[in-house]
Amino acid sequence: MDKKIAVLPGDGVGPEVVEQGVKVLEAIADRFQHQFTFHYLDVGAAAIEKFGVPLPSNTLEVCQRCDAILFGAVGDPKYDDLSSVQGRPEQGILQLRKKLGLFTNIRPVRTVPSLLHLSPLKKERAKNVDLVIYRELTGGIYFGEKGRNPDGSAYDVTTYHAREIERIARLAFKQATKRRGKLTLVGKASVLETSLLWRETVCKISKQFPSVKLEFLHADNAAMQIILNPREFDVILTDNLIGDILSDEASAITGSIGLLPSASIGDGTPLFEPIHGSFPRAAGEDIANPMATILSVAMMMDHFKLYEEASVIRHKVRHALEKGIGTAELHLDTVYSCSQMGDMIAHLITDHYELPHSNSVMGERVATII
Ligand code: IPM
Ligand code: MN
Repeated sequence: MDKKIAVLPGDGVGPEVVEQGVKVLEAIADRFQHQFTFHYLDVGAAAIEKFGVPLPSNTLEVCQRCDAILFGAVGDPKYDDLSSVQGRPEQGILQLRKKLGLFTNIRPVRTVPSLLHLSPLKKERAKNVDLVIYRELTGGIYFGEKGRNPDGSAYDVTTYHAREIERIARLAFKQATKRRGKLTLVGKASVLETSLLWRETVCKISKQFPSVKLEFLHADNAAMQIILNPREFDVILTDNLIGDILSDEASAITGSIGLLPSASIGDGTPLFEPIHGSFPRAAGEDIANPMATILSVAMMMDHFKLYEEASVIRHKVRHALEKGIGTAELHLDTVYSCSQMGDMIAHLITDHYELPHSNSVMGERVATII
């Protein structure tokens, strides 16, 4: 298969983790005889430095011509004291999502048996969690009118059209039919008019999916239930802002936000990115966890309908973690740097290398393949 992939490393640890994602893509191309061509493009603070804008027109144009986008992260504390949100690096990803019409953000959250000790939840609560968040990505308060009034007050307007809700709702219901058949709509319908519209619209769509059980939760209660009963959730459907908040919260259950991938899909070129952000303190240290990016590459393979490729990547990641190998924040037996993790997963893919079974020899033996 021939695919053109836009690579947007961005800021902070973005370039480091994306480099590991590309290694994995190259390994997959090698093993399965695909042709992936990479187009490196600037975004975020990196683009502001060079071109004065967070999303240069060339970046957008090339992305539009590619089959998929591998995205790192954007954000730099240097821009924290800007008086307006408009010139910030974050606009790079926000404009890209909007311009490409990527209205659905998919964030799967699964706990890994070998990492349950890292979860802030008790093991019996954290085990077997398997949920996916469908977050609306191009509407709501993120993209509404915003500004300052002459009296110094500020505003951000939230608007949703029924059609914006329908299109993501259909995708979320479809996903629920392939999973455990449950969809939880999260909003604040007791207070917000937009949440009421979400409820009405989602109720209508639900008629086309009679096998899916639809439930409603208020956002405050949902935030609590995710911690108390995370296994109760299957597909969570929600708006842009609530989805942003709940996905960070849910990711914490797994023990590390460094493990969570995401896919953004819609009208234009789909985009795959880790959910962790630019983590500026770790930039250049080679300590960031590339697993979220590598698992985002697996989601890209799923999107290309390369299911075996996707499952090989997931298998290798899980295997390494089960063998006690991970980046520092995972506190496993063997600490690998970001680049070592990428090399290892790539080697496991191309060489059909299997990690040894005995824990005692693991550290040494694995180190020899790097
Ligand atoms: C995310 C990030 C972005 C968001 C930022 C970088 C604008 O937090 O992808 O979750 O808020 O959507
Ligand atoms: Mn976020």
